Parts: sequence; structure tokens; C-alpha cells
Amino acid sequence: MLEIKNLHVDLEEEDKTILKGVNLTVEAGKVHAIMGPNGSGKSTLSYVLSGRDGYTVTEGNATLEGVDLLEMEPEERAAAGLFLAFQYPVEIPGVGNMTFLRTAMNAQRKARGEDEISAADFLKLVREKAKTLKIDADMLKRPVNVGFSGGEKKRNEILQMAMLEPKMCILDETDSGLDVDAMKLVSEGVNALRDAGRGFLVITHYQRLLDHIKPDVVHIMSDGRIIKTGGPDLALEVEKNGYADILSEVA
Ligand SMILES: Nc1ncnc2c1ncn2[C@@H]1O[C@H](COP(=O)(O)OP(=O)(O)OP(=O)(O)O)[C@@H](O)[C@H]1O
Ligand SMILES: [Mg+2]
Repeated sequence: MLEIKNLHVDLEEEDKTILKGVNLTVEAGKVHAIMGPNGSGKSTLSYVLSGRDGYTVTEGNATLEGVDLLEMEPEERAAAGLFLAFQYPVEIPGVGNMTFLRTAMNAQRKARGEDEISAADFLKLVREKAKTLKIDADMLKRPVNVGFSGGEKKRNEILQMAMLEPKMCILDETDSGLDVDAMKLVSEGVNALRDAGRGFLVITHYQRLLDHIKPDVVHIMSDGRIIKTGGPDLALEVEKNGYADILSEVA
């Protein structure tokens, strides 16, 4: 589904290399987790995949279902089925949350040559999905993320994901800032979307999330590379011993 080969990325503004040869394949139907120390390049990887400005790919490539992602505009990547739940969701003053969701859905449908969703179908769907995430009607009417609490913003990202039903979902620390109950709701939201045709890349610092969203594969990223790959046990090892042992193993 998602194939990243030898990806090297520099910052545009500064002479600094962030990703130094990332290799990663997420198969359809699988959940891959990425853990790793602060500043190792996890968010950078997710930004580069989703098409954020400010980065230069100097080597390597990334494809979604065989199609070159890096050549596409951000909205084309989204229409192709890539979704990123941001570590720091952005506030969009002046744009109602529901309007945003409906516009995003219809833009993607249009790009895929599908009909727009009717107002009635949309309302039914958004109410149903919002309910399962305990997002109330008021939050649906307010401008996107404006004045939302940290945890509400994270839940709102998952609402977007649930509405758009992307093929490849990248979650960047969606668990940070969530209370225990919200963590369960969000995990249930993710698990409900697990499907043979969909891949997940879950970036997290904590084993706790992975208790709820059971990953198939766990990767450790450090200094712009994936330095170790293993099963769910790898996350337990990190929780228990930190990164020191793993880092010294590969040094
Ligand atoms: N615009 C920028 N200017 C300077 N340095 C940057 C910029 N953007 C990213 N970096 C640096 O790139 C490195 C990787 O950052 P990134 O946000 O990808 O890390 P991360 O693995 O997501 O960390 P965290 O776990 O704290 O979220 C960091 O050292 C960061 O300071
Ligand atoms: Mg990050």
C-alpha cells in the first residue's frame, strides 16, 4: 500500500538533513507503529508524505498503491486516499467544522469522479460518526478546531478520518493530550476502520495506545532512519527500558 524507499529529506530553509534514508512498507490491512526519540524525524516523515511545503526530497521515493506520491499536490494525495491526523491540528477560523468536512469529502469524491454526497446523507453520517467519538453538535458547528481543547482537536482529527475513509491513515501522536476515556474512543474509531484494504501508520511515544490499537509491526526511528523493526514486543521493550539499549545496539 505505502512504500517508502531510501527517502532522504532536507529542510528547504536551512542546510539541514532530517530524513537520512527511510525504508518502510505498510501493507494493506496492517497497522504499523513508529516510535522514537523526540526530534528523530517522525513528524517530518508524515509531513513529507502528505505534501507540506518546506522540504526537499534529495533521494528516494514514496508510492501509494504504486503511484508516486511525491509528484502530487497535497489535495491529489488526499484524493488518492492518504490521510494525516496532525500532531498539532490547525485552527481554521471562519470555516465551520461541518462545512469543512463536507467540502473535503466532496472535493475528494469529485477528484475520483464520484457524485457529491447529498446534504441529508452527509448530516446523517456526520451525526453518527460524531456520536461515536462523543463530539457534540456544538463542536460540529464551531469553526474548525477554534477554541477546541487539546483532546477535542485530536478527536476531531479522527472524525475527519472516519468521514473520509482514507486508504492510508497516518496518525501523528493522536494519543497525546487525550484523557483515558478519549483514548478508548479514538482507538475504537481507529479499530472500526481497520480493514483488509486499509493501512495505518501510527506514530506514538506510548505503549498505552498500542494496547488499544494492536500494531502488526513496530518501528523505531532515530536520527532520520528506521533503526529497528519488530513486533508489538518492541513497544513494550521501549516502555520498560527507553531507547538507550536499542540505540547502542545499532551504534
Ligand atoms: N523548520 C525547521 N527548522 C529547523 N529545524 C527543524 C524544522 N523542522 C523540523 N526541524 C528539526 O527536524 C528534526 C525532526 O523533527 P520532527 O518534528 O520530525 O521530530 P519528531 O520525531 O516528530 O519529534 P517529536 O517526537 O518530538 O514529535 C528536529 O530536530 C527538528 O528540530
Ligand atoms: Mg512529531
